Formats: sequence, C-alpha cells, structure tokens
Amino acid sequence: MDNLPLVKSLVEKLANNLNVPVSCKIRIFPNLQDTLSYAKMLEDAGCSLLAVHGRTRDEKDGKKFRANWEAIKAVRNVVRIPVLANGNIRHIDDVHGCLEETGADGVLSADPLLENPALFAGYRTAEWGLGVAGMKEDDKLDQAELLIEYLRFCERYPVPWRIIRSHVHKLLGEWFRIQPSVREDFNKQYKLTFEFLYDLVNRLKELGVRIPLYVKDTQQAVSAN
Ligand SMILES: Cc1cc2nc3c(=O)[nH]c(=O)nc-3n(C[C@H](O)[C@H](O)[C@H](O)COP(=O)(O)O)c2cc1C
Repeated sequence: MDNLPLVKSLVEKLANNLNVPVSCKIRIFPNLQDTLSYAKMLEDAGCSLLAVHGRTRDEKDGKKFRANWEAIKAVRNVVRIPVLANGNIRHIDDVHGCLEETGADGVLSADPLLENPALFAGYRTAEWGLGVAGMKEDDKLDQAELLIEYLRFCERYPVPWRIIRSHVHKLLGEWFRIQPSVREDFNKQYKLTFEFLYDLVNRLKELGVRIPLYVKDTQQAVSAN
C-alpha cells in the first residue's frame, strides 16, 4: 500500500501473462477516496475479482476493530468487477447482513472459521447447553466429530504442525476453558502427533462433560448458490 505503482505493475504483468483470472485482496486506507482510487487502479490493471478487508493496515485486531462495510459498499459501487467483502463475518446472519449492506458479490471469513468451520453451513458455536435440549439431530454438530474430520483432512493433505496446533486450540477453545488440565497437557506437547490429538478427543469425551456443539442458526437460510 506504500508503493501503489509497484502493485499496479505486478497486477498488470500477471493479468497480461497468465491464462487464469487474477484476483486481488486489499485492506482499506483511512481515507475513503484513497481506497476507491486503489480499487479502480486494480481494476484498470486487469484484476478480475477484488476482495476488500474492511480494516486499515493499523487495525490489526479483528476483535477490537469492526470492519468498515460502508467503505466496502463504496468500492462495490465504483468498480465493475465482482467484489468480496471481508471482516465481521462470524455467523450466517452476518453473511446475509453484509451482502445486503455492502451489495458485495460474496463474503470472505478467516479467523471465525478457525473456531467454527461450520459457519457457512449455517451453524454457530452454541452457548453452553443453550437451546440444545430437544433440538433435532440435524440442527446440531458435534465439535469432537468435526475436529476428527479436520484431523483426517490434515493427514490426507499435510500442513505444518503450527497451523494444526493453533486451529485445534481455537476449535476446542470452549472445551479447554472448562478442562484446563487437558489444555495444559496439550500446551505442554513440544511435538504434536495425530495419535495424541485423537486420544485428546477421547479423553475429553471420557471426562463426561457436555460436548460443545455447533447449532443451526434459527434464521439460517443458506442458499445453494
Ligand atoms: C490463519 C489465517 C491466515 C491468513 N492468511 C492470509 C493470507 O495469506 N493472505 C491474506 O491476505 N490474508 C490472510 N489472512 C487474513 C484474512 O484473510 C482476513 O483478511 C482477516 O483475518 C480478516 O477477516 P476475518 O475477520 O474474517 O478474520 C489470514 C487470516 C487467518 C486467520
């Protein structure tokens, strides 16, 4: 963002030489006009799809700073290419709210997906025990099962252990809060193994505590497009 001519030349070079579309992802500037010029510059340089993270470079902490959907909306209105909105997408209601408020063509979510990979399927992390009794089976997702599914994917498509470690930590956040001894044991592992992690899920289950669930959003309306 400090060297826009360089960004322009990179995107031009890629767009002119690749036979696949070039997409870009940007943060916003504090000044709206700067953001709009940036977006238009990228479109003119050959960008085919633009994702806009509605925070400035200084607004690092997503929990502290709300993403600026107004700025995303303004970008949406000055370019012709599809725009994806990013920031403040924590559950499916946010998806609908964001699409409506910004007019964007789609949304991106990153950090919230680490805690709840079922976000786009219309599930949210349940408050402990809240609304769970009497719920239909289809409306619940067992966090332990989701974690096991994730670990199986990691075995099939290897990723660095530091990524798995931080994802497992976020996925099991609620569980760890009420089982600090298991969390400590997890944190103590200098070297993680799949065996340890599968066993950890079993240990948590055996502790007999309620299993955290993801529950289907009441107003969910996940469309298939
Ligand atoms: C694990 C993780 C990895 C990320 N990697 C990238 C990346 O490689 N490139 C990028 O532009 N943003 C990356 N981001 C930032 C996100 O794409 C996103 O812009 C930011 O987290 C704000 O969206 P959120 O509020 O939905 O998390 C990453 C975020 C997370 C949590």
